[in-house]
Amino acid sequence: MKKVITYGTYDLLHQGHINLLRRAKELGDYLIVGVTNDNFDRERGKLNVRNNVIERIDAVRATGLVDQIIIEDYAGQKIDDILKYDVDIFAIGSDWLGKFDYLNEFCQVVYLPRTEGISSTMLRAESDMTVNIGVAGCGRIARRFIPESKVVTAASVQAVYDQNAEVAREVAEKNGIETMAESFEQLVEMCDAVYIATPHLCHYHQTKYALQQGRHVLCETPLALNGDQAEELYALAEQKGVVLLEANKTAYCPAFNHLITLVKSGLIGDVVGIDASVSKLWSEEELVRELDPEQAGGSLYEMGSYPLLPIIKLLGTDHRNINIYSRMNENGVDVYSRGIMLYDNAVSSFQLGLGVKTEGNLIVSGTQGYAYVPSPWWKTDYFELRYEDQNKNKKYFYKWDEPGLRYEIQEFVSCIVNNRRYSSRLTPKESICMARVMQQFGERKNFYQL
Ligand code: CTP
Repeated sequence: MKKVITYGTYDLLHQGHINLLRRAKELGDYLIVGVTNDNFDRERGKLNVRNNVIERIDAVRATGLVDQIIIEDYAGQKIDDILKYDVDIFAIGSDWLGKFDYLNEFCQVVYLPRTEGISSTMLRAESDMTVNIGVAGCGRIARRFIPESKVVTAASVQAVYDQNAEVAREVAEKNGIETMAESFEQLVEMCDAVYIATPHLCHYHQTKYALQQGRHVLCETPLALNGDQAEELYALAEQKGVVLLEANKTAYCPAFNHLITLVKSGLIGDVVGIDASVSKLWSEEELVRELDPEQAGGSLYEMGSYPLLPIIKLLGTDHRNINIYSRMNENGVDVYSRGIMLYDNAVSSFQLGLGVKTEGNLIVSGTQGYAYVPSPWWKTDYFELRYEDQNKNKKYFYKWDEPGLRYEIQEFVSCIVNNRRYSSRLTPKESICMARVMQQFGERKNFYQL
């Protein structure tokens, strides 16, 4: 049996792809197609792919031309696949002429004629939609967000707003943005989508207003400090047919997502424990808002959604209880919080410090091994799966582009452009669960002061 293998992204599957697959199939008896994984595409700088890997696999399968579909995950995989599947012919479109000659050492390389006049890039351009984003709140995070939005093709920051017009002007000038809104309402009026980067206590009201006006919203984390409010906001987004995402940057980052899929695939067995920490040791002058009781300051509100993310993603939203132990400062704001979250078959803990420093790593303990993500795990480009037999340990490396906001922006615009209401990377249910934890803390339930 003659085996043929070919690779591609197969975004917005078109006639060129179908012709290529037909020609590849005709070269032998059995056709294997490697479809690039989303993370792999992002690493290669392909940030604008419209269909996710599942949709692209379904489309390739639906052609009826393919005998086996595999996922292409890493550079260098082609040689591994050719040897593993005992491939006779590697086929690829003529746009790659010469680029894969190095595979001649392992099998025959055939460049097939490319269909003229069509490509995924062309189709994306034809249906090109630019999401005009208005940025509300011009603090530290918004100043990072705006340059990051420039690397995401379909995103364009059109206008900014800050209650301090001087700050808004400075940010607008620095980033070449011509429009400054005079009010939040005016900003919403001007844009298709709003990025809310104002202090925590504004999030609920501003998100609600923007959703009511039919705008898509990307809201900084924490979306809400109350579970019912978060639930109400997602219901409103659903009713209005718009996208609401919580901007928890770790949730959208490539390494973190791959870690979650590997652990969910059982590579370390059943998860029985998770420990995650985040801490910052900044001076009190730098942490004015973050430590202000009037602005919902404190380590849990400020950073709690980061350690809650791996816990909720891996253990779910149905925890039995959560106890929180905090050291409060003289203003009644937690500078250190430790939480213990109990599940039916697992337990997790987290530590948060604002003015207290601790090791900021993430450890997921399983019945067959554990995942170790070194500090700062929330923006990692590297993690390890470790086992009793150290020879089985595996290290995983990824690309992380500082400050890492491009991944959430990409997911946000991709949801809008592709009419996807939710992101599996941080679902409404998971986001609501985080808000319920914040609420429990606010109500001082199961709370112990140190
Ligand atoms: N292909 C083809 N004819 C086209 C477009 C693609 O034969 N008009 C082939 C490519 O050469 C490759 C396979 O289809 O072997 C998958 O290519 P892919 O990169 O997914 O498709 P493109 O349309 O080229 O995507 P993009 O525009 O994003 O590069």
